Amino acid sequence: MTIMLVSLILGAFAALYYYLTQNYKYWQKRGIPCPDGALPGIGHMLPAITLRTTFSEFLRKMYNNNKNCSMVGFYSFTKPSLIVIEPQLVKTVLQTNFASFNRNVFQVDPDLDPLVALNPFNLFDEKWQTARKRLTYAFSSMRLKILLESVKPVCVLFENYLNNKLSKTEKVEVELKDLFAKFTAQVVAGAGFGVDGYCFNEEKKNLSFQKIGEVVLEPSLRTKIATMLLFLVPSLNKIFKISFVPKHIDNFFRTLVAELMEQRRKDGKPRNDFLHLMTELEKQEGIKFDVELLTAQAFSFVVDGYETSSIVMSLVGYQLAVHQEIQEKLRKEVMSVFKKYNDEITYEGLKEMTYMDQVLNESQRIIPTAGFQSKICTEEFELRGSDGLVCRVQPSTEIQIPVHGLQHDPRYWNNPEVFDPERFNPENKQNIDRFVFLPFGEGPRICPGMRMALLQIKAGLATLLRKYSLELSPKTKLPLKMIPGVILASPEGGLWVKIRQL
Ligand code: HEM
Repeated sequence: MTIMLVSLILGAFAALYYYLTQNYKYWQKRGIPCPDGALPGIGHMLPAITLRTTFSEFLRKMYNNNKNCSMVGFYSFTKPSLIVIEPQLVKTVLQTNFASFNRNVFQVDPDLDPLVALNPFNLFDEKWQTARKRLTYAFSSMRLKILLESVKPVCVLFENYLNNKLSKTEKVEVELKDLFAKFTAQVVAGAGFGVDGYCFNEEKKNLSFQKIGEVVLEPSLRTKIATMLLFLVPSLNKIFKISFVPKHIDNFFRTLVAELMEQRRKDGKPRNDFLHLMTELEKQEGIKFDVELLTAQAFSFVVDGYETSSIVMSLVGYQLAVHQEIQEKLRKEVMSVFKKYNDEITYEGLKEMTYMDQVLNESQRIIPTAGFQSKICTEEFELRGSDGLVCRVQPSTEIQIPVHGLQHDPRYWNNPEVFDPERFNPENKQNIDRFVFLPFGEGPRICPGMRMALLQIKAGLATLLRKYSLELSPKTKLPLKMIPGVILASPEGGLWVKIRQL
């Protein structure tokens, strides 16, 4: 009896072991390099799931250890996943053969998170095209000028806020992400929805758009778990049913968009925000847009725009605080442009801040907001590396683009760990391969909000640099280390600086 029981238990373990490891010869059979050490059921993901490292850092290590190959496989739990290392393969996946890799990895349950499920990032085929078309329409040069009109008053509020803080003291110590999140959340409220975001209003701070953004996106334990489940093991979320967007926030945005759209359709007054542009587009197309999809698109400002842009601003602020000479050079440019345009922020003036573009690019190269991008193979495709490796990628295989690795590879960047905006000056910029610098992605799924993001970031930074200087505070933990379990770059302990009036 005992022997039978032991045999049964051993048999069950052997079956489980077989089940959890059956795929682990996948890459070997195809002649694709793959590191040893895949653990049953976990594959190579131990450092990421135990929150010892970020997924971006995990991919960067894989990239560095396999740099001389055109591609390398690994196991994400039991699933084979492929990292493309050679830039021409990155181009194949993101652009040339987009048809075979046209989906992003997130699988969002539309019943749990309807607004996130309808975000262009998670859509494909026709729905994706419609959603993208509307965002692209809103962010054309002509309409960006309209949206800038909503960004300008936020710059004034931002300046008043800093003036207030500095009215009684010579310098203030602030955490940059928190400071810039006020700015970008206020922009989202104004340029997205045409409402006051209360982000610079201390009395209403609990009702502010910044607070809403924090609930959805800040790295709390809830969002870490939700992100992990959504990104790494989407199937597990069918059991746990953790949603990204809490119900009350989902309801808030639905009501807000439905009411604002109705009001705008009725009164027809021109306004400087995304919803107004959507009423214009409705008129052009002669149809009434579905309110659910519209809410999801406007909500995309919050999930895609507010957090990413404030991260970029805070990382630029950090670099400027560390590199005083670069801060000074940038301030000179800002001052001269302000002088030329009568002390006003203008679309043309922002365009002329080309050294600002260099600094922004270099900051995004050295610490990309998204250190990787993930795609799903949707149609069998043969990837051929210049080293002779050939991989017939099967549908549903995950493809990882190691953005951080590519942006720090000494084969493409001299002294990659040095912060040097001159890499992006007009002469040097021409020599950069588009597929080794991917802060906004590339190809048909390139970030549609890129121009809006750059517009608001430049306006905010110009407002700051014109009147204030930044110096690094010892409160910033160096070297910077990103919080594991969070997809976008989030330095542990925050980025602290001291700001003083010039
Ligand atoms: C500095 C700020 C921003 C950064 C660094 C950023 C970065 C990115 C990246 C890396 C992607 C993925 C591209 C790919 O999958 O190939 C993306 C996609 C996207 N971004 Fe942004 N983004 C920013 C701001 C914005 C803003 C302001 C909006 C909208 C208001 C926006 C809307 C989107 C959307 C909708 C997608 C999905 C596009 C698709 O799959 O077709 N982003 N962004």
